[in-house]
Amino acid sequence: MNEGPAAHSPLAVAPELLNALRAATRIVALTGAGVSAESGVPTFRDAQTGLWARYRAEDLATPEAFARDPALVWDWYAWRRELVARAAPNPAHHALAALETRCAEFTLITQNVDGLHRRAGSRRLIELHGDLFRTCCSRERRVVECWKATEQRPPACPRCGAPLRPDVVWFGETLPQDALASAFELSGGCDVFLCVGTSALVQPAASLPLAALQAGALVVEINLDETALSPHARFTLRGPAGVLLPMLLAAAWPSARN
Ligand code: OAD
Repeated sequence: MNEGPAAHSPLAVAPELLNALRAATRIVALTGAGVSAESGVPTFRDAQTGLWARYRAEDLATPEAFARDPALVWDWYAWRRELVARAAPNPAHHALAALETRCAEFTLITQNVDGLHRRAGSRRLIELHGDLFRTCCSRERRVVECWKATEQRPPACPRCGAPLRPDVVWFGETLPQDALASAFELSGGCDVFLCVGTSALVQPAASLPLAALQAGALVVEINLDETALSPHARFTLRGPAGVLLPMLLAAAWPSARN
């Protein structure tokens, strides 16, 4: 753990952090792909294993890529859906779901589209980048629950015939405006902000911890590595989220079943 400039063992959780967690009435957590890494879901930017080390985002995660080769994009997302469907929430997801029950107002904001937070039991959840398991019409962006089974990839929208697409946010697209506005409002009004398993590089999500910092929240980062946020966080816990988050909860609420 890094408290200001001085580094400590992650196991020596500072009393200031534990007291702040216990006293907080409003906690916000922002998560990224690192929170699902221990479930076997690849991150995006980790060298070797990250999706963007093996695939080009421009070919798979932009509206232009979908217009150019909709079948390729559809198949890539189908592959990711299968991968996530086989995965299970890990102790980091469970610890965040438990934290929701410890705090009067806890909100989890995630950039992940894998649905693992929901499967772990998190309920106050803002999914900024959409949901891999939801499908929508590429023309109207209306969510489509079922469509005619044909060989066609992607299938056609039953209302207008346009190709269906995954209901996720691609590069160059705007985020759902209501979700984003709530995320900024909550981040700017919380007592403690936890930033977990995200490289904190992709905007606008990367600005949420900064909004919390500006408003005077205690910002805590949990990550395997240093990020652009690290120098600004009050506490940085270095290590796997699936170990550190349960440890943090057990230290803050020792008598509770976390
Ligand atoms: P990244 O792949 O950019 O970053 C993952 C972060 O998790 C890195 O900082 C890792 O050090 C950290 N990490 C990896 N394993 C960890 C573990 N077990 N415990 C703790 N930390 C761990 O993923 P995101 O920050 O989520 O957007 O990326 C943000 C967005 O960029 C994604 O939502 C996606 C991507 O392109 C779109 O597709 C629009």
